Amino acid sequence: MLFFGGDYNPEQWPEEVWDEDVALMRQAGVNLVSLGVFAWSHLEPEEGRFEFGWLDRVMDRLHDGGIKVALATPTASPPPWFTLAHPDGLPVTADGVRLTHGSRDTYCVSSPAYRAAARNIAAELAGRYGQHPALAVWHVHNEYGTDCRCDLTASAFRSWLAKKHGDLDALNESWTTAFWSQRYSDWAQIMPPRATQYLPNPAQVLDFRRFLSDELLGAFVEQRDLLRAVNPGVPITTNFVQGGWVSVDHARWASEVDIVAVDHYPAGVDGESETAFGGDLARGWAAGQGGEWLLMETAPNLIYTPGRMHAKEPGRLTRHSLNYLARGSRGAMYFQWRQPRGGAELFHSALVPHAGPDSPVFREAIGLGRTLAALTPHVVGETVPAQVAVGWDAPSWWALQGGGLPAADIDYLAAVRQVHRVLYESGFATDFVFPGLDGFGERAAAGGAGLVGAGTLSTGGGTELVDSGSGAGAVGAGLGAYKIVVLSHLFLISDASAAALRDFVAGGGCLVVGHLSGIADPAGRIRLGGYPGAFREVLGVRVVEWRPLGVGVTIALDNGEQGIRWSERVETAGAETVVRYAGDVLAGAPAVTRNRFGAGTAWYVSPGLGDDALRRLLGQVAVEAGVTPVLAGLPPGVEAVRRGELVFLFNHGDGPGTVPLPGAGTNAATGRAVSGSVTVPGGGVVVWRGA
Ligand code: GLA
Repeated sequence: MLFFGGDYNPEQWPEEVWDEDVALMRQAGVNLVSLGVFAWSHLEPEEGRFEFGWLDRVMDRLHDGGIKVALATPTASPPPWFTLAHPDGLPVTADGVRLTHGSRDTYCVSSPAYRAAARNIAAELAGRYGQHPALAVWHVHNEYGTDCRCDLTASAFRSWLAKKHGDLDALNESWTTAFWSQRYSDWAQIMPPRATQYLPNPAQVLDFRRFLSDELLGAFVEQRDLLRAVNPGVPITTNFVQGGWVSVDHARWASEVDIVAVDHYPAGVDGESETAFGGDLARGWAAGQGGEWLLMETAPNLIYTPGRMHAKEPGRLTRHSLNYLARGSRGAMYFQWRQPRGGAELFHSALVPHAGPDSPVFREAIGLGRTLAALTPHVVGETVPAQVAVGWDAPSWWALQGGGLPAADIDYLAAVRQVHRVLYESGFATDFVFPGLDGFGERAAAGGAGLVGAGTLSTGGGTELVDSGSGAGAVGAGLGAYKIVVLSHLFLISDASAAALRDFVAGGGCLVVGHLSGIADPAGRIRLGGYPGAFREVLGVRVVEWRPLGVGVTIALDNGEQGIRWSERVETAGAETVVRYAGDVLAGAPAVTRNRFGAGTAWYVSPGLGDDALRRLLGQVAVEAGVTPVLAGLPPGVEAVRRGELVFLFNHGDGPGTVPLPGAGTNAATGRAVSGSVTVPGGGVVVWRGA
């Protein structure tokens, strides 16, 4: 089954609306809803007093309507009684302000009172609904990512640090506490990063973010385990969210969920490339699960351009949803089913808007439901083959969010997004790999073991959601599955992961490294002797000086392109120079180099480049590495994504686009024969299935 539905909040509506909800869900082909995500105060209005009657009736109604439930534990939003009874369960900001209830996500994950209350409500739900026939998946919590700096957090942080570093000498060494007289002589002296006079210790900040990710994971795991004990056949997940504020390293979490579920809200005008990025990154996290994941939330008919809601044009809801599907999703779920009458997000879009079902968004949802049903037999369990992979590393992102860096506009996400966008615009299928993961080296070298290392699903099987068919394909097949690996701003790297990437090149792979990669060890200490320390040998270069460029300043290159944002003094040590700097004091110095290493090639790209220049460069790399786009001869604005035997053709332009097809086949949504070529209407999608 492909899942279609969204967050359903019946507690916000009188009961007579529920019958209409189920009828409309059936009309649209909705088959899964996330239920109870923020319903804690309705389920437990006072400590220890539960009201499940309303949820019983909702579950039964949905079941009678043939609709499955992703039942949430409501622990992202503790009720007001909890915070009054347990003030130490409230989070404290870095400035020492204790927050109060009145919004959501207002809890301290290290508070024993919060953890006990969360376990308690989860256990109550498990006991009551663990065997309910409508239950398809447990949706634990919502978008883990809350941050707290209170004394309880401080104590949990110290325990985590003691486990990681063993003793204070090791911690002092790892954090370079000799700088600014920060040497710790007792564990009790160590604090979470709080407001400081000037720059904090970057290694302390980095360890705190890792700690928080692990601490939140611990909270997830304890709920997961008690839910699993009640009915091991029901898969368990939590919805990952992408964003710079998120204190969660999803690549590390992915092996703890039964299916990777992702919320994705493209926020820029360029919603298309952002959709592609979100889908490809989600598939990377899901590598241990055969690359299949579930789009748990996206906005049905709005894109949030900065400061403004932008209604999606007709067809864009379908195009974006099928784009996630093409990139490995097991369906399309939205936030939310029915637009609320009040509350903080009353203008957030929904499948049933304030205008009611007689509306463009609901009509488009009906069509989308039919399309998903038609595609189901061809999509479930199918993988997305890719020859190119991009490195992603949450700790490198965190490290580059700090102060004290050589340029204030260093932007990890923008840098990785640019590489992905350029590959996407060139028509190359792209995976993500995670060099920051423990054991990346061994897995990458062994090949075939999966990059995320999740192994097999651990639910005991039995539910349709995880019983996805053929499973592992290109994703999870080790670095050897790729012809090209691109690293941008991969600031931190371990010796083992650097060795795995070197072995990838020695074995015939093509590695492309941009500036600010391979600079430091996982603690953020510089690898000495010239940048990029971790990759000097494989790249055959040595960078002896950084020369960041001012905003709007460019530097000429001898191939006619311009460098932007960044330049460096590069010396070759075995590599050949492909492009030279042509301006400034760097005139004549290497800018782009290529090194033959073992059976492979390693490129170093020193300057920052605009999209066009980067596209031309990666195009040359791709030709040399023998990488081909998913489909040749696409008209402008048309994108092709292959999943299994399907080729999804997305026309992001306004006018029709005619695509030459590689052979005879059918339109998978209609079953009609299509061969030779197919015309995709402006803004439309055609899903072609080779015969
Ligand atoms: C997240 C949350 C939802 C809602 C949306 C709004 O994804 O999970 O509850 O707040 O954002 O974009």
